[in-house]
This record gives sequence, C-alpha cells and structure tokens, in this order.
Amino acid sequence: MARACLEWQVEMGVDEAICDAPVNRYALEAKPSKPAPVSIAPAVMEAVDPVSEAHAMAAAAEDLAGLETALAAYPHWDLRLGARNLVFADGHPEARVMIIGEAPGREEDMKGKPFVGEAGQLLDRMFAAIAMQRDHPDPAKAIYITNILPWRPPQNRDPSAEERAMLRPFVLRHIELADPDLLVLMGRVSSATLLETSEGITRIRGKWRELAGRPALPMLHPAYLLRNPAAKREAWADLLELQAKLRTLP
Ligand code: URA
Repeated sequence: MARACLEWQVEMGVDEAICDAPVNRYALEAKPSKPAPVSIAPAVMEAVDPVSEAHAMAAAAEDLAGLETALAAYPHWDLRLGARNLVFADGHPEARVMIIGEAPGREEDMKGKPFVGEAGQLLDRMFAAIAMQRDHPDPAKAIYITNILPWRPPQNRDPSAEERAMLRPFVLRHIELADPDLLVLMGRVSSATLLETSEGITRIRGKWRELAGRPALPMLHPAYLLRNPAAKREAWADLLELQAKLRTLP
C-alpha cells in the first residue's frame, strides 16, 4: 500500500521530500524521550509469611482428607521438588495411639506410606509386641502413623528451623483432627520439633510430656534401634509404659 502510494506520487512528478511550507524544527516543542510518569498509587505489596500461611491453611482443613489436600497445595516446600509422593499417614485414623515419625525414606517415598521400609517393619514388630497393629479394625488395638515431614528430604537431611516452623501447624492440626488419646514422638527430630526442645532424645525418651492437650511419649526411633540393638531394652520399657498409660485413660 505504502509502495503503491509512493509510485503514484513519482508518476505525478514528485521528486523531493519537502512540505509546502518550511518547518523550523528548532522551534518545535521538545518531545519527551520517555513517557511521562503515570500517577498511579503504588500497589501494596504484601509479604507472604509462609508460617502464617501454614497456620491458615491447616486451620481451614475440616477433616483429614482436607488436610492432606492442604499439604499438597502448600506452596512453600522446596522439599517436594525431589520427592515422588506426598506421604500423609497410614493405619487407623481413629486409633487411640498416634505415632509421629520423622520423614519418609526411599521406600516410603515410592509407596506414599509412612514407615514401610526396614525401620517401619521394626516399628510394626515393636507394637505387635504390645498387641497393637496399624491395620487393626479396633481403634483400641490399632495405631495411626504419620511423620513431621510429608516429603522425602534430599539426602534424608534433617528439616531446617524454617521448615520445622512451617510443618508444625500442619502436624498440630493433624493431631487435632485425628484426636488420639496418646501420642508417640518417634525419635529426635519429631520430639525436638513438636516439643520445641533442644534436649537430646536419649535424655527425654520414656518421659511423658504434653502436646496438643494430650500425653506425648518421646521414644527412640526404630532406625536408631537398628543401628544400636542394645537400646531395644529402653524401647521395650517405653512400650510397656505406653501400654500402662492406655489402661489408666478412659
Ligand atoms: N522413618 C520415619 O521417621 N518415617 C518414615 O516414614 C520412615 C522412616
């Protein structure tokens, strides 16, 4: 179109690109090189606090399925990047005893269930010794199992302080929704995170604490027992303690 226009002008005898009247370009108002700033009130940038968001999302979950969905949707886990599956829980959700472990390992990550590897098999044997099992239909004889971390951490590393702070609201809501009579805090990471203590597990194991309005018993982790078989004696004493406590509760 522009070319046709030019050709027509050439045909009509146009041979110079000038206007009818001269233009004094120095007298022209200088054009701003940049667009004038637009006066819009600056947007209010609200910083998202991951811990407050964890509290809000956990509190909004009305049941265990809702909590699992909230965990899957929580956007601040870098942890999930290397994990295959979200590992939420296993066992009887109405069990009197809820066990809170540390984090899924390789097998748990593959199957999407907590405590299914070697440590998990020992855990099953430990509870079988006091006549309890994860898939027992009677809540009095069943156990319900979860972890502090729902994702397998890279190189099975411990959760950082920030990650623990993000995890706590979800675990506390998990306890509230499952509403067990007793809690077992399996190992150092679970006990330290939930009791917010720096005391070592060998010091606090077997001593009742309170968490989320119910008795909580820190115990040695089965993975630790696999590495230190001599410590099974203490674990057995703790299991008997747990059994005795259950008898005293309504
Ligand atoms: N160790 C844990 O603490 N949790 C698991 O699920 C497996 C191993």
